[in-house]
Amino acid sequence: MFTSIRKAVLPVAGLGTRFLPATKAQPKEMLPIVDKPLVQYAVEEVAASGIPLVIFVTGRGKDAIEDHFDVSFELERQLAGRGKEELRRQIRSISGLLQMTYVRQKHPLGLGHAILTARDLVGEEPFAVLLSDDVIDSRVPCIKQMMDVFEHYGRSVVAIQRVDRSAVSSYGVIKGHPVEDRAWHGRLFRIEDMVEKPEPRKAPSNLAIIGRYILTPAIFDKLAQTRRGAGGEIQLTDGLHRLLENEPIYGLIFEGKRYDAGDKLGFLQATVELALKRPDLGKPFRQYLKSLKL
Ligand code: G1P
Repeated sequence: MFTSIRKAVLPVAGLGTRFLPATKAQPKEMLPIVDKPLVQYAVEEVAASGIPLVIFVTGRGKDAIEDHFDVSFELERQLAGRGKEELRRQIRSISGLLQMTYVRQKHPLGLGHAILTARDLVGEEPFAVLLSDDVIDSRVPCIKQMMDVFEHYGRSVVAIQRVDRSAVSSYGVIKGHPVEDRAWHGRLFRIEDMVEKPEPRKAPSNLAIIGRYILTPAIFDKLAQTRRGAGGEIQLTDGLHRLLENEPIYGLIFEGKRYDAGDKLGFLQATVELALKRPDLGKPFRQYLKSLKL
């Protein structure tokens, strides 16, 4: 049995309709928070967690993501010529972060289908999934926190967070009971049930699934059997629901702050808070915000 995670799947084929017109001719994953595209936050989280390979599940109009993580000789030569060595080094380090590979999701059939598209590249081993809409600022990378649970229990783990009851219909929602394990201080749950985007009055709890998963390869057969669910799409939550029949699944309330950058307000919150934390921008930006006297 594998105990370590060597591969991370990043589904990036989504259309990004919530950010139109900004996403008409560029992938939503390339929208920047301050000066870094959303997808780079996820890739840096993978690298910081010690996972060596990223598998992008991509689609039409997403070439900018491949270019972003490739070496750009022209740009580097120009920067070097202008004495901008530090910037050149930064640009180069993006392409050297990790090993990356790409597979295309030819039909937009949903998150579950995107994961299934990565099946041949993942093979018969456990793997991580990160949704770049969810930007998580934490001391220990969120996916690393979940890898620690996986190392202990050897089962699938989903990230969870308490949300307002009124918001549950935007998420996969779990029902579970806390695991008696002092290492996680009541933050680890054994999942009993889960449902994708329930109406608030039908939701089993207010524990919402956030876009970080550690999955055992048994999920692939389950996804292959999963029919279209909420929104007419093949849902990962529905595949996980099937997996529950055969394997335990855990939910971890992770430590850290999560921003829903797939939503306009969440995107603005991430921009403001992450800019305030930047050593080069924090001070003048704070002064500017104060001057607004809201
Ligand atoms: C997806 C998942 C959902 C999860 C959410 C987290 O939904 O289907 O279960 O709660 O990500 O961000 P989406 O936001 O893509 O609609």
